[in-house]
Amino acid sequence: MIIRRKPELTDNDVTDYNLYRQRRKFIQSGFALAAGAMLPLGFDSAVAAGVKFNDLKESPFSTDEELTSLEAITSYNNFYEFGLDKESPAKLSRDFKTRPWEISVNGECHSPMTIGIEDILSEFPMEERIYRLRCVEAWSMVIPWVGFPLAALLKKVEPTMDAKYVEFTTLVDPEQMPGQRRGLFGYVLDWPYREGLRLDEAMNPLTLLSTGLYGEQLPNQNGAPIRLVVPWKYGFKSIKSIVSITLKREQPLNTWQAQASNEYGFYANVNPEVDHPRWSQARERRVGEFLKRPTLPFNGYAEQVASLYNGMDPKKLY
Ligand code: MTE
Repeated sequence: MIIRRKPELTDNDVTDYNLYRQRRKFIQSGFALAAGAMLPLGFDSAVAAGVKFNDLKESPFSTDEELTSLEAITSYNNFYEFGLDKESPAKLSRDFKTRPWEISVNGECHSPMTIGIEDILSEFPMEERIYRLRCVEAWSMVIPWVGFPLAALLKKVEPTMDAKYVEFTTLVDPEQMPGQRRGLFGYVLDWPYREGLRLDEAMNPLTLLSTGLYGEQLPNQNGAPIRLVVPWKYGFKSIKSIVSITLKREQPLNTWQAQASNEYGFYANVNPEVDHPRWSQARERRVGEFLKRPTLPFNGYAEQVASLYNGMDPKKLY
Protein backbone atom coordinates (compact mmCIF):
# COMPACT_ATOMS: atom_id res chain seq x y z
CA MET A 1 0.00 0.00 0.00
CA ILE A 2 1.42 3.40 -0.94
CA ILE A 3 0.84 6.04 1.68
CA ARG A 4 1.15 9.62 0.53
CA ARG A 5 3.21 11.97 2.66
CA LYS A 6 1.70 15.33 3.53
CA PRO A 7 3.44 17.87 1.31
CA GLU A 8 5.07 21.09 2.57
CA LEU A 9 2.45 23.71 3.51
CA THR A 10 1.53 26.02 0.66
CA ASP A 11 -0.92 28.90 0.27
CA ASN A 12 -3.49 26.30 -0.72
CA ASP A 13 -3.35 24.86 2.78
CA VAL A 14 -5.18 27.80 4.35
CA THR A 15 -8.03 25.43 5.17
CA ASP A 16 -5.71 23.05 7.03
CA TYR A 17 -7.91 22.19 9.91
CA ASN A 18 -5.20 21.57 12.48
CA LEU A 19 -4.23 25.21 12.12
CA TYR A 20 -7.89 26.17 12.10
CA ARG A 21 -8.49 24.40 15.39
CA GLN A 22 -5.36 25.77 17.02
CA ARG A 23 -6.44 29.29 16.15
CA ARG A 24 -9.95 28.60 17.34
CA LYS A 25 -8.67 27.37 20.71
CA PHE A 26 -6.47 30.47 20.96
CA ILE A 27 -9.41 32.73 20.21
CA GLN A 28 -11.45 30.99 22.91
CA SER A 29 -8.64 31.51 25.40
CA GLY A 30 -8.28 34.70 27.44
CA PHE A 31 -5.30 35.87 25.37
CA ALA A 32 -7.31 36.63 22.31
CA LEU A 33 -10.15 38.20 24.25
CA ALA A 34 -7.68 40.44 26.07
CA ALA A 35 -6.33 41.46 22.70
CA GLY A 36 -9.85 42.39 21.66
CA ALA A 37 -10.18 39.65 19.01
CA MET A 38 -13.90 39.02 19.30
CA LEU A 39 -14.33 36.58 16.41
CA PRO A 40 -17.31 34.25 16.87
CA LEU A 41 -16.63 30.56 17.46
CA GLY A 42 -16.40 28.67 14.20
CA PHE A 43 -15.12 31.59 12.19
CA ASP A 44 -11.54 32.48 11.44
CA SER A 45 -10.64 35.14 8.92
CA ALA A 46 -7.57 33.16 7.82
CA VAL A 47 -9.71 30.21 6.69
CA ALA A 48 -12.96 31.94 5.80
CA ALA A 49 -12.51 31.59 2.05
CA GLY A 50 -14.22 28.38 0.98
CA VAL A 51 -15.67 27.45 4.38
CA LYS A 52 -19.27 26.45 3.74
CA PHE A 53 -20.48 25.63 7.23
CA ASN A 54 -20.51 28.24 10.00
CA ASP A 55 -21.46 27.86 13.64
CA LEU A 56 -20.80 24.14 13.74
CA LYS A 57 -21.64 22.67 17.13
CA GLU A 58 -18.73 20.72 18.60
CA SER A 59 -19.58 17.18 19.65
CA PRO A 60 -18.70 15.40 22.91
CA PHE A 61 -18.17 12.29 20.75
CA SER A 62 -15.18 13.85 18.94
CA THR A 63 -11.72 12.41 19.43
CA ASP A 64 -8.87 14.86 20.09
CA GLU A 65 -6.36 12.75 18.16
CA GLU A 66 -4.34 14.44 15.45
CA LEU A 67 -6.35 14.90 12.27
CA THR A 68 -5.40 13.20 9.01
CA SER A 69 -4.49 15.87 6.46
CA LEU A 70 -7.19 17.14 4.11
CA GLU A 71 -4.90 16.14 1.24
CA ALA A 72 -4.81 12.48 2.37
CA ILE A 73 -8.55 12.31 3.17
CA THR A 74 -9.41 13.55 -0.32
CA SER A 75 -6.82 11.68 -2.37
CA TYR A 76 -6.77 8.19 -0.82
CA ASN A 77 -10.31 6.87 -1.25
CA ASN A 78 -12.39 3.76 -1.75
CA PHE A 79 -15.29 4.56 -4.08
CA TYR A 80 -15.60 1.74 -6.59
CA GLU A 81 -18.13 3.63 -8.68
CA PHE A 82 -15.17 5.85 -9.61
CA GLY A 83 -12.45 3.24 -10.02
CA LEU A 84 -10.67 0.44 -8.25
CA ASP A 85 -7.56 2.14 -6.91
CA LYS A 86 -7.25 4.75 -4.19
CA GLU A 87 -6.28 7.62 -6.50
CA SER A 88 -9.02 7.25 -9.16
CA PRO A 89 -12.05 8.56 -7.18
CA ALA A 90 -10.53 12.04 -6.77
CA LYS A 91 -9.81 12.25 -10.51
CA LEU A 92 -12.85 10.52 -11.98
CA SER A 93 -15.48 12.12 -9.71
CA ARG A 94 -14.45 15.69 -10.50
CA ASP A 95 -17.51 16.41 -12.70
CA PHE A 96 -19.99 14.31 -10.69
CA LYS A 97 -23.24 16.30 -10.36
CA THR A 98 -24.57 16.45 -6.81
CA ARG A 99 -27.25 19.09 -7.44
CA PRO A 100 -30.18 18.66 -7.67
CA TRP A 101 -30.16 15.62 -5.35
CA GLU A 102 -33.03 13.87 -3.62
CA ILE A 103 -33.16 11.12 -1.04
CA SER A 104 -36.20 8.90 -0.70
CA VAL A 105 -36.87 7.69 2.85
CA ASN A 106 -39.40 4.89 2.61
CA GLY A 107 -40.46 1.36 3.61
CA GLU A 108 -41.79 0.43 7.05
CA CYS A 109 -42.73 3.94 8.21
CA HIS A 110 -45.87 6.05 8.65
CA SER A 111 -44.65 9.17 6.83
CA PRO A 112 -42.37 8.28 3.91
CA MET A 113 -40.81 11.28 2.22
CA THR A 114 -38.51 12.47 -0.51
CA ILE A 115 -36.26 15.27 0.61
CA GLY A 116 -33.82 17.41 -1.37
CA ILE A 117 -30.27 17.98 -0.18
CA GLU A 118 -30.83 21.73 0.25
CA ASP A 119 -33.76 21.03 2.60
CA ILE A 120 -31.62 18.58 4.55
CA LEU A 121 -28.93 21.24 4.91
CA SER A 122 -31.39 23.85 6.15
CA GLU A 123 -33.59 21.63 8.34
CA PHE A 124 -31.02 19.69 10.32
CA PRO A 125 -28.46 21.53 12.46
CA MET A 126 -25.00 20.43 11.34
CA GLU A 127 -22.31 19.58 13.85
CA GLU A 128 -18.66 18.72 13.68
CA ARG A 129 -17.77 15.16 14.68
CA ILE A 130 -14.14 14.09 14.66
CA TYR A 131 -14.17 10.32 14.26
CA ARG A 132 -11.65 7.60 13.57
CA LEU A 133 -12.41 5.72 10.34
CA ARG A 134 -10.97 2.16 10.30
CA CYS A 135 -10.93 0.54 6.88
CA VAL A 136 -11.10 -3.25 6.60
CA GLU A 137 -7.80 -2.98 4.66
CA ALA A 138 -6.07 -2.15 8.00
CA TRP A 139 -5.51 1.57 7.51
CA SER A 140 -7.24 4.34 9.42
CA MET A 141 -7.78 8.10 9.37
CA VAL A 142 -9.08 10.74 11.75
CA ILE A 143 -11.68 12.84 9.94
CA PRO A 144 -13.49 16.01 11.04
CA TRP A 145 -16.91 15.24 9.58
CA VAL A 146 -19.77 17.70 9.30
CA GLY A 147 -23.16 16.07 9.71
CA PHE A 148 -26.17 15.28 11.83
CA PRO A 149 -27.47 12.14 13.56
CA LEU A 150 -29.24 9.71 11.21
CA ALA A 151 -31.78 9.25 14.05
CA ALA A 152 -33.10 12.79 13.44
CA LEU A 153 -34.04 11.92 9.85
CA LEU A 154 -35.50 8.51 10.73
CA LYS A 155 -37.70 10.00 13.47
CA LYS A 156 -39.28 12.29 10.86
CA VAL A 157 -40.66 9.36 8.88
CA GLU A 158 -41.97 7.56 12.01
CA PRO A 159 -40.81 3.95 11.67
CA THR A 160 -43.56 1.36 12.23
CA MET A 161 -43.32 -1.37 14.89
CA ASP A 162 -42.25 -3.76 12.09
CA ALA A 163 -39.17 -1.73 11.14
CA LYS A 164 -36.14 -3.69 12.36
CA TYR A 165 -33.45 -2.78 9.81
CA VAL A 166 -32.43 0.10 7.56
CA GLU A 167 -31.12 -0.31 4.02
CA PHE A 168 -29.11 2.40 2.23
CA THR A 169 -28.56 2.64 -1.53
CA THR A 170 -26.07 4.64 -3.61
CA LEU A 171 -26.94 6.32 -6.91
CA VAL A 172 -26.76 4.25 -10.11
CA ASP A 173 -25.60 6.40 -13.02
CA PRO A 174 -23.12 4.65 -15.33
CA GLU A 175 -22.81 7.80 -17.45
CA GLN A 176 -21.35 9.67 -14.51
CA MET A 177 -19.88 6.72 -12.61
CA PRO A 178 -17.39 4.93 -14.86
CA GLY A 179 -16.98 2.07 -12.38
CA GLN A 180 -20.59 1.09 -13.08
CA ARG A 181 -19.96 0.70 -16.80
CA ARG A 182 -19.55 -2.82 -18.02
CA GLY A 183 -16.25 -3.27 -19.76
CA LEU A 184 -14.35 -0.17 -18.70
CA PHE A 185 -13.14 -1.41 -15.32
CA GLY A 186 -14.96 -4.72 -15.57
CA TYR A 187 -18.27 -5.15 -13.81
CA VAL A 188 -16.80 -5.37 -10.32
CA LEU A 189 -19.79 -5.13 -8.01
CA ASP A 190 -23.47 -5.76 -8.28
CA TRP A 191 -24.70 -2.13 -8.39
CA PRO A 192 -26.18 -0.25 -6.68
CA TYR A 193 -23.82 -0.29 -3.72
CA ARG A 194 -26.00 -1.17 -0.71
CA GLU A 195 -25.51 -1.18 3.03
CA GLY A 196 -27.59 -2.03 6.05
CA LEU A 197 -27.86 -1.44 9.77
CA ARG A 198 -30.06 -2.80 12.50
CA LEU A 199 -32.58 -0.11 13.51
CA ASP A 200 -31.00 0.37 16.95
CA GLU A 201 -27.57 0.82 15.34
CA ALA A 202 -29.07 3.37 12.97
CA MET A 203 -30.72 5.24 15.86
CA ASN A 204 -27.54 5.27 17.96
CA PRO A 205 -26.36 8.85 18.55
CA LEU A 206 -22.91 8.05 17.08
CA THR A 207 -24.38 7.20 13.66
CA LEU A 208 -24.01 10.18 11.39
CA LEU A 209 -25.26 11.33 8.02
CA SER A 210 -22.38 13.43 6.78
CA THR A 211 -22.62 16.36 4.38
CA GLY A 212 -19.13 17.76 4.80
CA LEU A 213 -15.63 17.50 6.18
CA TYR A 214 -12.96 19.97 7.28
CA GLY A 215 -15.72 22.57 7.62
CA GLU A 216 -16.67 22.45 3.94
CA GLN A 217 -19.19 20.50 1.90
CA LEU A 218 -18.22 16.89 1.09
CA PRO A 219 -15.78 16.47 -1.78
CA ASN A 220 -17.24 14.19 -4.47
CA GLN A 221 -14.70 11.42 -3.80
CA ASN A 222 -15.79 11.26 -0.14
CA GLY A 223 -19.44 10.61 -1.01
CA ALA A 224 -21.07 13.92 -1.89
CA PRO A 225 -23.62 15.16 -1.29
CA ILE A 226 -24.46 12.87 1.65
CA ARG A 227 -22.96 9.67 3.07
CA LEU A 228 -23.23 7.51 6.13
CA VAL A 229 -20.57 7.38 8.87
CA VAL A 230 -20.69 4.51 11.40
CA PRO A 231 -17.44 4.90 13.35
CA TRP A 232 -17.40 1.57 15.22
CA LYS A 233 -17.70 -0.48 12.02
CA TYR A 234 -15.25 -1.11 9.18
CA GLY A 235 -15.27 1.69 6.61
CA PHE A 236 -17.23 -0.21 3.96
CA LYS A 237 -20.42 0.26 6.04
CA SER A 238 -20.10 4.04 5.52
CA ILE A 239 -21.93 4.13 2.18
CA LYS A 240 -21.48 7.16 -0.07
CA SER A 241 -23.74 9.32 -2.30
CA ILE A 242 -26.99 7.94 -0.85
CA VAL A 243 -30.26 8.18 -2.81
CA SER A 244 -32.52 5.97 -0.72
CA ILE A 245 -33.02 4.87 2.86
CA THR A 246 -35.51 2.05 3.37
CA LEU A 247 -36.89 0.76 6.68
CA LYS A 248 -37.22 -3.02 6.53
CA ARG A 249 -38.55 -6.02 8.44
CA GLU A 250 -35.78 -8.34 7.24
CA GLN A 251 -32.02 -7.99 7.45
CA PRO A 252 -30.82 -6.52 4.13
CA LEU A 253 -27.94 -7.97 2.13
CA ASN A 254 -25.04 -5.51 1.87
CA THR A 255 -22.82 -5.24 -1.20
CA TRP A 256 -19.65 -6.76 0.22
CA GLN A 257 -21.50 -9.60 1.92
CA ALA A 258 -23.20 -10.38 -1.40
CA GLN A 259 -19.83 -10.24 -3.14
CA ALA A 260 -17.81 -12.42 -0.72
CA SER A 261 -19.86 -13.75 2.21
CA ASN A 262 -16.86 -15.77 3.45
CA GLU A 263 -14.97 -12.48 4.02
CA TYR A 264 -17.62 -9.88 4.88
CA GLY A 265 -20.72 -10.06 7.01
CA PHE A 266 -23.62 -7.84 7.98
CA TYR A 267 -22.24 -6.42 11.23
CA ALA A 268 -18.63 -5.54 10.33
CA ASN A 269 -17.91 -4.34 13.88
CA VAL A 270 -14.21 -3.52 14.24
CA ASN A 271 -12.68 -6.41 16.20
CA PRO A 272 -8.88 -6.76 16.45
CA GLU A 273 -9.31 -10.39 17.56
CA VAL A 274 -11.12 -11.55 14.45
CA ASP A 275 -8.80 -11.70 11.45
CA HIS A 276 -9.98 -11.09 7.94
CA PRO A 277 -9.55 -14.49 6.20
CA ARG A 278 -6.59 -13.05 4.27
CA TRP A 279 -4.92 -10.72 6.84
CA SER A 280 -4.78 -9.76 10.51
CA GLN A 281 -7.00 -7.02 11.93
CA ALA A 282 -4.91 -6.68 15.13
CA ARG A 283 -3.05 -3.55 14.00
CA GLU A 284 -3.61 -0.67 11.61
CA ARG A 285 -1.61 2.01 9.85
CA ARG A 286 -2.85 5.54 10.43
CA VAL A 287 -2.55 7.18 7.01
CA GLY A 288 0.40 9.59 7.18
CA GLU A 289 2.21 7.63 9.91
CA PHE A 290 4.91 5.02 9.50
CA LEU A 291 4.52 2.69 12.50
CA LYS A 292 1.41 0.58 12.98
CA ARG A 293 -0.77 0.96 16.06
CA PRO A 294 -3.05 -1.56 17.79
CA THR A 295 -6.64 -1.62 16.58
CA LEU A 296 -9.21 -1.03 19.32
CA PRO A 297 -12.39 -3.09 19.81
CA PHE A 298 -15.30 -1.25 18.18
CA ASN A 299 -12.63 1.15 16.83
CA GLY A 300 -12.43 2.73 20.30
CA TYR A 301 -16.19 3.31 20.65
CA ALA A 302 -16.92 0.26 22.86
CA GLU A 303 -18.17 2.35 25.76
CA GLN A 304 -20.95 3.80 23.60
CA VAL A 305 -21.96 0.77 21.55
CA ALA A 306 -20.80 -2.57 23.06
CA SER A 307 -24.14 -2.94 24.89
CA LEU A 308 -25.98 -3.09 21.54
CA TYR A 309 -24.54 -6.58 21.15
CA ASN A 310 -25.12 -8.04 24.62
CA GLY A 311 -25.63 -11.78 24.41
CA MET A 312 -24.17 -12.03 20.90
CA ASP A 313 -20.83 -13.69 20.12
CA PRO A 314 -18.43 -10.81 19.25
CA LYS A 315 -16.43 -13.19 17.05
CA LYS A 316 -19.46 -13.60 14.78
CA LEU A 317 -20.11 -9.88 14.41
CA TYR A 318 -17.79 -9.41 11.43
N1 MTE B 1 -19.69 3.69 -0.79
C1 MTE B 1 -19.90 3.44 -2.11
N2 MTE B 1 -21.04 3.81 -2.68
N3 MTE B 1 -18.96 2.79 -2.87
C2 MTE B 1 -17.77 2.35 -2.32
O1 MTE B 1 -16.95 1.76 -3.05
N4 MTE B 1 -16.38 2.20 -0.28
C3 MTE B 1 -16.45 2.02 1.17
C4 MTE B 1 -17.14 3.22 1.86
N5 MTE B 1 -18.32 3.62 1.14
C5 MTE B 1 -17.53 2.61 -0.93
C6 MTE B 1 -18.53 3.31 -0.19
C7 MTE B 1 -15.15 1.79 1.79
S1 MTE B 1 -14.46 0.26 1.50
C8 MTE B 1 -14.55 2.70 2.62
S2 MTE B 1 -13.12 2.29 3.47
C9 MTE B 1 -15.08 4.07 2.79
O2 MTE B 1 -16.21 4.31 1.95
C10 MTE B 1 -14.00 5.07 2.42
O3 MTE B 1 -14.42 6.40 2.66
P1 MTE B 1 -13.44 7.61 2.33
O4 MTE B 1 -13.00 7.47 0.90
O5 MTE B 1 -14.22 8.87 2.57
O6 MTE B 1 -12.27 7.49 3.28
